[in-house]
Amino acid sequence: MPYYTQLGEIPPKRHIQFRRPDGALYSEEVFGIEGFVGPTSTMYHIHPPTQVAGWKKLYSTKTEYVETDVMRMRHLQSQDCTPKGDPITGRVVLLGNVDVEMSICLPAETMDYHYKNGSGDELLFIHHGSGTVFTSMGTLAFGPKDYIVIPKGVIYRMVFDPVAAGEPASKFLCFETMNTSHFHPPPRYMSKKTSQFLEHAPYCERDLRLPTLPLTHDESGDFEVRIKARDSIHSYTYDYHPLDLIGWDGCYYPYCFNIDDFSPIVGKHHMPPPTHQTFEGHNFVICSFCPRVLDFHPEAIPVPYHHSNLDSDEVLYYVEGNYKARRGIDSGSFSLHPQGIPHGPHPGTIEKSLGATWTDELAVMCDTFRPLHPTMAALEMDDPDYPASWAKWKPGDKPAKDESPDTW
Ligand SMILES: [Fe+2]
Repeated sequence: MPYYTQLGEIPPKRHIQFRRPDGALYSEEVFGIEGFVGPTSTMYHIHPPTQVAGWKKLYSTKTEYVETDVMRMRHLQSQDCTPKGDPITGRVVLLGNVDVEMSICLPAETMDYHYKNGSGDELLFIHHGSGTVFTSMGTLAFGPKDYIVIPKGVIYRMVFDPVAAGEPASKFLCFETMNTSHFHPPPRYMSKKTSQFLEHAPYCERDLRLPTLPLTHDESGDFEVRIKARDSIHSYTYDYHPLDLIGWDGCYYPYCFNIDDFSPIVGKHHMPPPTHQTFEGHNFVICSFCPRVLDFHPEAIPVPYHHSNLDSDEVLYYVEGNYKARRGIDSGSFSLHPQGIPHGPHPGTIEKSLGATWTDELAVMCDTFRPLHPTMAALEMDDPDYPASWAKWKPGDKPAKDESPDTW
């Protein structure tokens, strides 16, 4: 996974002569992971991809974590974040560990360069905004609630459309693998023989949006490509447009998947978080909590039970819907529930949820097997009263009106 595809022009066999209109050879590049036993694509460049004119180190990207020895529930409030930087420099890491980093970005500027993450895969989740990602493997138009998977090594430039008056500022999350693993759907969704999505999977090939034309940018000039690797950004100069592929084929490429195309799995009794799983990397998973019919046993309790995910830290980003079951939580909130202490619905919401048949919640979750550490930026938006918010209730207190069932 992903499945085999192709875009643009390619020769009938691998590793044979394939010539430009002027008679020169196109430059073939085999672009693969896991020592060329993992997914691979074969690219055909107008120019040799090794041909660069200059390079220099720009800045460090090493993340500094704080309170790494503190275990408590957190509520990060990103609602008041203001736009800054571009879709790369504007990213602010909030939580992470040696396996995955999670950042938020409200871009204020456009990218006048191309970017390549040479150290990890990126999974972007667009909360607000739309635009286009111009990649070395083709063009991806994106909009609200799209996941965008950009594998390690793909060169791209992300361009947001202007924000209309009255609309929220463009905003997206970025999950980045830090342990050399790659984002992919859970293997249990896939056929072991063909890698086809199986019938029980909550999404399938038809839901993935692959790169399209335009692909080839045949231009000369000075073009900057910023490359992330070794906890640094280096600036490389090309004397041709870096998106110079005439064609490619294979199973390694960027793609989009809209969270509204995730088909939730519902049940007579409460479904556990793995039913919401969408992607995974080594030591972490990404889940999508989408609007859905609630549990239909006549005596079902629609809200989740109190639970201790003893091996995982859990961070939820609330996208839209009614979160009044978690008081104080709103669109743009993050909740962090660390391993070692139980969590669950706020007091009073269990009784209130009885008889509910539908939830309109929409949230993205990342569960990690290692503790997630906050950055100073996370602490600046942390609500210190959140851990005690379960304790403010006394037996007999009535829940607020319109409270709806809760996510995990
Ligand atoms: Fe949970």
